[in-house]
Amino acid sequence: MHIRPKRFNFRDVRGISQHQLEAHYQLYLGYIDLIENIMNTMDTERQTDYELRGLKEGETYALNGIVLHEYYFENLGLSDQKPSSSLIRMMERDFGSYQNWFDDFLRVGRIARGWAILAYDFRDGRLHNIMQDAHNQGDLWQAEPLLVLDVYEHAYLIEFGIDKKEYLQVFADNIDWSVVNERFSYLFR
Ligand SMILES: [Fe+2]
Repeated sequence: MHIRPKRFNFRDVRGISQHQLEAHYQLYLGYIDLIENIMNTMDTERQTDYELRGLKEGETYALNGIVLHEYYFENLGLSDQKPSSSLIRMMERDFGSYQNWFDDFLRVGRIARGWAILAYDFRDGRLHNIMQDAHNQGDLWQAEPLLVLDVYEHAYLIEFGIDKKEYLQVFADNIDWSVVNERFSYLFR
């Protein structure tokens, strides 16, 4: 099994240093190494049930870690776009207003230990602000992430120390809505 890592353009990000972003990117590469080691071990060695439990837990942790970081890095960066009118209408329907959605999303980011995710749930046809305390804890199946916010301390500690509130504001100023709008429109292609 070989996963090719994606590269991301961090040049458009304002308020988060390239040093912080590059260190974070190295963690993403670490998850690729981890899943390759796990899959290789499962393929080539016999395990006790106890050992296999650990590997299976690591499997979803590493794979979701890869996916969520790719979503996060892709939706990070300035663009001249705002949320599309169709996305705003759905936010208004499901949260009452765009501002309500925004406040709730940042609140989820503040209380989460891992991730805040705006996702569209195909099952109920609604938007949800999902909280995950780990890559493989709190996932919502049959839902598609639209906007992903990493709130692990490694995402901001180098730049902001323990000032998570400042990081959340800088993230909000660096949402690449062109990426989010594209993900949203892809749902209804
Ligand atoms: Fe991260």
